[in-house]
Amino acid sequence: MPSVPPPSSRVRTHLMSDHQELEDELGRVVEALEAAGHAQAQELWIPFEARTRAHLDTEDNHLLPALFRWRRREARAIVEEHKHIRGRLVQLAKAIAAKKAKLSEIQRLFDELRAHARNEERRMYAWADESLNLPAKEALMAALAASIAVVPRPPF
Ligand SMILES: [Fe+2]
Ligand SMILES: [Fe+2]
Repeated sequence: MPSVPPPSSRVRTHLMSDHQELEDELGRVVEALEAAGHAQAQELWIPFEARTRAHLDTEDNHLLPALFRWRRREARAIVEEHKHIRGRLVQLAKAIAAKKAKLSEIQRLFDELRAHARNEERRMYAWADESLNLPAKEALMAALAASIAVVPRPPF
């Protein structure tokens, strides 16, 4: 039976596990690019990109407005990272579609996403677990689930 995280660490547990799933999906894009080429990598990239955008959008809408009120500098840093990641998604989507994506570039995104998750764990998720009330946490998690539910699943 999966263990239920205590309410005090729910946001951190939930969002870090979503980050893990994003990393796993991007890892499969890397494997496909190495083993099977651009066509298969693109089939996996599309759901990965949609899911990453769903994660970022949920944080923008449900965490950052409150973080801005409490810790402006931390919020600004995360907004900048989101901007950077969205830019990289556009860049890499074009490169994959044009069959010109380099493994090293996708690996770089993997490293950037991992660093971003660590940053958020420290700067935003720990704060959210301490500061948000239960309805706000529930709303955040329901929004994440709803945005993921409409994202296409990886085909393999
Ligand atoms: Fe984020
Ligand atoms: Fe995140």
